[in-house]
Amino acid sequence: MSDLLQQLNEIESVAIVNIATANSSEALDAVRVEFLGRKDGKLTAVLRGMGQLSADMRPVVGQRANEVRIKLEEALEQRTLAVAAIEEDCKLEQERLDITLPGRSPRLGRKHPLSRTLDEVKEIFIGLGFDILDGPEVETFHYNFGSLNYPDDHPAMDEQDSFYLNDETLLRTHTTAIQTRVLNERKPPVRVLYLGRVHRREQVTLRHSHTFHQVDGLLVDEGVTFADLKGTLDAFFKEMFGRHTQMRFRADFFPFTEPSAEFAFTCFECGGTGCRLCSGSGWIEFGGCGMVHPNILRQCGLDTEKYTGWAFGFGVDRVAMRRYGVGDIRLWVENDMRFLTGV
Ligand code: DAH
Repeated sequence: MSDLLQQLNEIESVAIVNIATANSSEALDAVRVEFLGRKDGKLTAVLRGMGQLSADMRPVVGQRANEVRIKLEEALEQRTLAVAAIEEDCKLEQERLDITLPGRSPRLGRKHPLSRTLDEVKEIFIGLGFDILDGPEVETFHYNFGSLNYPDDHPAMDEQDSFYLNDETLLRTHTTAIQTRVLNERKPPVRVLYLGRVHRREQVTLRHSHTFHQVDGLLVDEGVTFADLKGTLDAFFKEMFGRHTQMRFRADFFPFTEPSAEFAFTCFECGGTGCRLCSGSGWIEFGGCGMVHPNILRQCGLDTEKYTGWAFGFGVDRVAMRRYGVGDIRLWVENDMRFLTGV
């Protein structure tokens, strides 16, 4: 047998094994170049040597070379498909997600308990037909004190002495500051509720803070009486704290109301029999109220023979303290997530 035919057999058997054992597309490419490469391929070298063959051997070797080429090409093609599948599997294996790992759940936010309490207060008063209004936290002396019938240098202002930005401007000490703003703009019937943050120069304790939240209500119309005020507050507190809640009114003084009263309701801890929460009295003092002082109505251009009105105000932080069983008022404004996520 011609030398070349023997070489072709060898090429065939070696190449077939190399193709079958190539495990990557790079390895397969290398085999292709080694045997079928145009320049230095082993099969190409055989074809080049055919020139020296005798005329009768040439077609025999040529046909065999062709057979080997076709066989190798087919083997390469098949192996290429197989290698591609292997490589795909490898890739998938490397990129595999471990779905058994515990996920990272996003931390969901929610409303601050004080905001939730404010929302509840709002809802109840909206149900009673009140409009909800807002006013500035940085207020003028005029609206915070002057227009509310505080006589100049009246000692009642001392207990509410606040943070002044200058002689005329301060952080509002009560939401009542919105009262004359409203009466200057709206004509009766007026039925409004305003709520928000207020500031006072207070010693910070478990039950007092320099920053807290208040609600003020105001109703002005023809023929409005103290009985309407009592009925409204009674309805509110029964809705907020339960049907068995009772109210108590006691005479008090506020420059902007005449007569004035402080109001309390039965302690919801003991139901009125007396406990530590209500210091044994059975009552929890809550806020102030009264009939709007005629001086205020007059100053806002209203005929006091025709119109009367009442107002009330109370702190929301304490409502929230009761609602959520929190014994320290400072926790509401400290933004401590360990506390806030627990209530
Ligand atoms: N502004 C008063 C305070 O902060 C509470 C108050 C009393 C509000 C009587 C009123 C009212 O509207 O009529 O202590």
